[in-house]
Amino acid sequence: MKPIRVVFHGALGRVGGEVVSALCREPEMQLVGGVDIRATGDYLPFPDGSGAAPLSSDLEHILTSCQPDVVVDFTIAQATMPAVRIAAQKGVNLVVGTTGLTADEVDEIERLSLAHQVGAVVAPNFALGAVLMMHLAKLAAKYFDYAEIIELHHHLKADSPSGTALSTARVMAEAKGKPFDVPEPRQASSSRGQLVEGVTIHSVRLPGLLAHQEVILGGPGQTLSIRHDTISRECYIPGVLLAIKRVMEHKGLIYGLDTLLGLRGGHERV
Ligand SMILES: NC(=O)c1ccc[n+]([C@@H]2O[C@H](COP(=O)([O-])OP(=O)(O)OC[C@H]3O[C@@H](n4cnc5c(N)ncnc54)[C@H](O)[C@@H]3O)[C@@H](O)[C@H]2O)c1
Repeated sequence: MKPIRVVFHGALGRVGGEVVSALCREPEMQLVGGVDIRATGDYLPFPDGSGAAPLSSDLEHILTSCQPDVVVDFTIAQATMPAVRIAAQKGVNLVVGTTGLTADEVDEIERLSLAHQVGAVVAPNFALGAVLMMHLAKLAAKYFDYAEIIELHHHLKADSPSGTALSTARVMAEAKGKPFDVPEPRQASSSRGQLVEGVTIHSVRLPGLLAHQEVILGGPGQTLSIRHDTISRECYIPGVLLAIKRVMEHKGLIYGLDTLLGLRGGHERV
């Protein structure tokens, strides 16, 4: 079988570097081009020394000259939509990992993918373990009345609480059918964290951390802890490679790695 031809948008970024390395090791896939606004040379050398792929800051040029099957995008939200429009118009399938897209933008990706009959996977979290952690927390939610989340990230993370922590609290309350109970008396102290759907979220920011989250559910005489730790950006690779394969067999949008894994059916975007 011919390898899947992949262009990486954001090739010089942190996730880009990991995925480019992984693509070099993957016999069923071939990196045929890289695009990055910071591109200075014409070639992206493969980290294993096995060759190089054309590199440019001009996505349209790379798509025309490299004829990929799939564009993978890990850039910034403002760069994603112009790239999606060009790729869909050229009949290229899309895998989008960039975060910060609005619901309207995700709707537009769905419309474009259907109009141009291409596949699109949009997943704000490609880490298999993080998605499973949220799924397990959702399963446990209806058996406990109290829950708190501790999310820990590197000190450069701009937002708090993290998007994953907010989504976790929301999907847990949705699965429960109501917000969690809040332990009384609720002390009005900033050290008690931020309340979302009755779930108190605590945010830790420290150098040395990457991305970690612990969901603790509490009931009379027992607690249940579900924890995920990101050790390195390699954690995104299995999810991204799965998306590249699946997007070749599908027309229209698949939203979320959990949908891709069959953990939920629809297009919920909590
Ligand atoms: N879905 C996931 O699981 C997941 C995981 C990690 C990061 N992310 C998201 O992926 C994105 C990238 O993360 P990162 O850590 O690799 O960031 P990064 O800053 O290291 O890399 C982004 C790259 O995109 C390039 N870029 C920016 N604007 C561009 C443009 N207009 N055209 C072409 N290239 C452009 C930058 O030069 C940079 O090399 C962020 O939105 C991040 O939140 C998602």
